[in-house]
Amino acid sequence: MKEKEIIELLNKMTLDEKIGQMVQIVGDIFLMDDINISTGPLKDLELPDEMLYNVGSILNVMGAQKVKKIQDKYLSKSRLKIPLLFMDDIINGYKIAFPIPIAQGCSWNVEVIKKIAEISAMESNISGANVNFSPMVDLSRDARWGRVMESIEGEDSYLGQVYAEAIVKAYQGKDVSKLGHLVSCVKHVAAYGAAEAGRDYNTVDMSEREFRQYYLPPYKAAIEAGAEMIMTSFNILNGIPATINKWLIDELLRKELNFKGVVISDYGAIEETIAHGASKDERQAALNAINAGVDIDMMSKVYANYLKELCQEDKEVENRVNKSVLRILKLKNKLGLFENPYGNTDEEKEKKYIMNKQNLKEAKKLTQETFVLLKNKNKILPLTKNSKIALIGPYADNNGITGSWSMFSDRTKNHTILDILKKRIDTKNLLYAKGTEILREKDINRILSAEGLPIINIEDEQEKEKYLLKEAIEIAKKSEIIVLAIGEHYKQSGEACSRSNISLPENQINLINELYKLNKPIVMILFNGRPLQLNNVEDKLDGILEVWFPGTTGAEAIIEVLFGDVNPSGKLTMSFPQNSGQCPIYYNHYNTGRPHVTDFRYVSRYQDIATESFYPFGYGLSYCNFKYKNLKLDKNKMKENDIIYVTVEVENQSDYEGYEVIQMYIQDLYGSVVRPVKELKGFKKEYFKPYETKKIEFKIDIEMLKFWNECLEYKAEEGEFKVYIGGNSVNTLEETFELY
Ligand code: BGC
Repeated sequence: MKEKEIIELLNKMTLDEKIGQMVQIVGDIFLMDDINISTGPLKDLELPDEMLYNVGSILNVMGAQKVKKIQDKYLSKSRLKIPLLFMDDIINGYKIAFPIPIAQGCSWNVEVIKKIAEISAMESNISGANVNFSPMVDLSRDARWGRVMESIEGEDSYLGQVYAEAIVKAYQGKDVSKLGHLVSCVKHVAAYGAAEAGRDYNTVDMSEREFRQYYLPPYKAAIEAGAEMIMTSFNILNGIPATINKWLIDELLRKELNFKGVVISDYGAIEETIAHGASKDERQAALNAINAGVDIDMMSKVYANYLKELCQEDKEVENRVNKSVLRILKLKNKLGLFENPYGNTDEEKEKKYIMNKQNLKEAKKLTQETFVLLKNKNKILPLTKNSKIALIGPYADNNGITGSWSMFSDRTKNHTILDILKKRIDTKNLLYAKGTEILREKDINRILSAEGLPIINIEDEQEKEKYLLKEAIEIAKKSEIIVLAIGEHYKQSGEACSRSNISLPENQINLINELYKLNKPIVMILFNGRPLQLNNVEDKLDGILEVWFPGTTGAEAIIEVLFGDVNPSGKLTMSFPQNSGQCPIYYNHYNTGRPHVTDFRYVSRYQDIATESFYPFGYGLSYCNFKYKNLKLDKNKMKENDIIYVTVEVENQSDYEGYEVIQMYIQDLYGSVVRPVKELKGFKKEYFKPYETKKIEFKIDIEMLKFWNECLEYKAEEGEFKVYIGGNSVNTLEETFELY
C-alpha cells in the first residue's frame, strides 16, 4: 500500500476501529467456536463487545494452520479488512530451543548471536510470527533478578550495543516483509534490569548520568539498527512508571533518539500504573499512557474501555490516537500484510524447514560456543574415553534443559546426557543414578505456589532422598570419575523468579558433600539461568562446566565438549558473586575513597567475604593454555583525531586448538565525574592452532574515551588513561597513555 492509501484507510476508520488497533489480547480466543464475551475468557478483560473484531494484534499464537484460521475468521468479520498482527516471544528460538540469551552472550561471538537470531526468525516467521518480543537488552548487574537469564549482554553495556545491533538486523533484514524476517521489538525500556534488590518489577531510581552511560546505550543501538518496535518496562523510572513516562517515551525515544516505530506496553502494565499509585483509576491510566506515547495496550482493558470517551472530550487525545494508529498501520504495511494477510506463514515450509537436520547440526555448534569452563583442576577435562564414569544428578537424564521461555519447543525431542553418553562410551564404563531431585517438593511448591501443586508427604520425601543418595554413592564407589549434572530448576529463573539465596538447592549441595567424601574426581555440569553462589561447593569439585540452559541440542553439545572434540571458549558476561550479599556486583564499578588494597581496617570491604567477585566478568577457561605478552602502544599520547594502535601477543602453550576471547578495557584515571575502574572497549575472538602465537591489534579512538560529564555532555576529557588487555577482566597486562 502507498502512504496515501494508508491515510485514506485511517480516514475511513471509526473511532472504535481505531482504538481496536491499539489493543492487544491473547489470540486463543479466536480459536474458540463460540466466542461469548459476557461469560467467556473475555469477561475478565472486560472488552466491549464491538472490540473483538477490531483488535489490532494478538500474542503468542503460533503454527501456520492456526494463524491462518484466526486471520481468516478475523477478516471475515472485520469491516475494513485490516489484518491482525501476530506477536510472539521467541526468546531463545522457536521449535529449536537455543541456549538462553545470557548463555548466547557468553559466546562473545557476534556471528553466533546472528545465526541464532536468523534461524529463530525463519522458523517462527513461517509459523506465523510477524513481530518478536526480542531482544531483551536490559543491563543486568544483580544475579538475584530472575530475568538475567534473558539478558543478552549481562552486566556490560558495550556488549549490549554490539549484540543488540546484530540481533535487530538479523530479525528484520533489509526488508522485513521478506521470508524469514520479522519485526524486532526491543525491550524493556527502560532500565528494567536495575530493579532494587533484584526483585522483579521493583523500583528503579538512578541518576540520569548512570542511565545514559550504561542502561540506555543498548536500547539506543537497537533503535539505530532499525528496530521497529519498543516495549516499555514494568518498573518505575525515577518516580514515574516507564509505561506512562512522557519524558522517556515522547522526549527521549521519539524526539531525541528519533524513534519512528510503535511503542507497546508490557503485559497489563498500563492498568498496573494504578497499583503503582501513579494513576487514580483506569480512565486516568489510559490518559496517562496515551499522553506519554504508548501506541498499543498489551492485555489490559483500559484503552479499550476509556480511550473513546477521552477522545470525545479532548481533541488532543484524538490526535494522539490518530498518530498511534497510523504508526500501527504503517507497520502492518511494511510487513506486506495488506497485500497478503498471512505474511510468510506456510505449512509446507514448516514441514521442510522447522527442526531440519542442517539447523540442528548448526545449533549444536552454536551451543558449544556458549559454554564456560569455570574450573579445570589438574586438567581433569577433557575426559578420556576409557575411564569408568558415574553419571549422577537430576539433570543427567533430563530433557528439560531449554529454560523457562521456550514454550513452543517440544522437550520430548531433546536427548539427555545419559542418552548421548550411552552411544559414546562402552556401556560397561557407564553407571547412572539420579542422586537427588532438582528441588525438594516444598521448594517446588513455594516457587510454583500460584500454580497450586499438591503438598506431598515430607516423610515420604525424606525416605526417597535417602534412597537416591544411597544409590548414587554405590555407583560412585565403583567409578573412576564422577560426572555430576545439577543446577537450578528451570522455573527458578525468568520472569517473577527473583531469589534472595542464589545457592544451589540444599539437597544438591548435600549430594556434592556426600560424593566428595569418596575421594574421587568430580566434574560438575551446571544448568542454571543466573550466576550462582558456588563458593560453598567449588573446593569439592575438580571441574565445572557452565552450560546454562543449553536447549534442544544441549546434551549432544555437552558430551562433545566433555570429551574434547570441541574446546570450550565462552566467557562470563556477568560476575559470579561470592554470595548474594554482594549483589549488585559488576566489574566496571567506581572506586571508593578507600579501595580495598591494603591491610588497613577502614576500607571498603566485607568482614565475612572477599570484596571481589567469585568468578569475574570476562572469565572462562579453555583446554588450551593462553599466555599474553608484549602489550605495546604505537604512541603514548593522542589528540582528539588520533588513533592509538595497541598490540598484544597471545600464545597458545598447549597441544589443543581452540578459541580465545581477547578483551580490551580502558580506564580514565580522573575526570569531572568519577570513572569506572575499567570498561570493556573491544574484544576479538581468535582461533589458535597448537602452540601458535598471534599478534592481536586493537585501535583506541576518541569515541572510546567519551562519557557523560558533570554538565551531562557526552565528551572526552584530557588526562591519563590506562589500557588493559587480557583473557578476562582481572588478569590483564596494562599500559598508560594520555589524551591532550
Ligand atoms: C514480559 C515480556 C513479554 C510479554 C509477552 C511479559 O510478562 O515481561 O517480556 O514479552 O509478557 O508475553
